[in-house]
Amino acid sequence: MELKETTQKTDRRDFVKRALAVVIGGIAGLVPAAAGLMVLLDPLRRKAAAGAAIKVTTLEALPKDGVPRKFPVLANRTDAWNKYANVPVGAVYLRRTSEGIVEAFNVVCPHAGCFVDFSAERNGFLCPCHNSSFTVAGKINPGSPSPRDLDALPVELRQDGEVWVVFQNFKTGEKEKVPVA
Ligand code: FES
Repeated sequence: MELKETTQKTDRRDFVKRALAVVIGGIAGLVPAAAGLMVLLDPLRRKAAAGAAIKVTTLEALPKDGVPRKFPVLANRTDAWNKYANVPVGAVYLRRTSEGIVEAFNVVCPHAGCFVDFSAERNGFLCPCHNSSFTVAGKINPGSPSPRDLDALPVELRQDGEVWVVFQNFKTGEKEKVPVA
C-alpha cells in the first residue's frame, strides 16, 4: 500500500516536471519566433523617409495671385525587398504670395485626417468631414473643430525655379504639431 502511494507521488511529480518543461520550452521558443517575425515584417511598416526635401514642382506652375494649387508628393520608397520610384506619399497645397514667397500646407486636416479642399468662392480651405475651415494662409477659422492651423511645411526654392518641400505628416487631433514617422 505504502509502495503504491510512493509510486503515485513520483508519477505525479514527473508529470508536473514534464508539463513545466513543455510550458517553459514553448515560451522560450516563442520569444525568438516573435522577434524573427518582427524583423520579417518590419520593412512592411517602413515608410518613405520623413523630413526629407522633395521636389514638388516649379515656380511656373504656381499662379502669382496667391491662389493655392494642389500637388501630389512623390518619393522613392525602399523596403528590404524592393525599391519603388515616385510613389505618392502625400499631397500639398502650394501658394505663391504677391511677395514671391511660396507657402506649403499638408492637405491632411489636423482634426481627424480628411483631405481639405480649396474653395475659390470662400478664398479658403474647407474640410468636408466636420466643416473645419481655414483661411487661404492656412489659419483656422473660429468655430472649427480642428485643434490647430493647417500644417505648414518648409519650402526650398532651388535653381531653375524648382520648388522643394520638406514633407511631413503630423498627428491629428492634437494642438501641437507632432510628427509621425
Ligand atoms: S477631419 Fe477635418 S474637420 Fe474633422
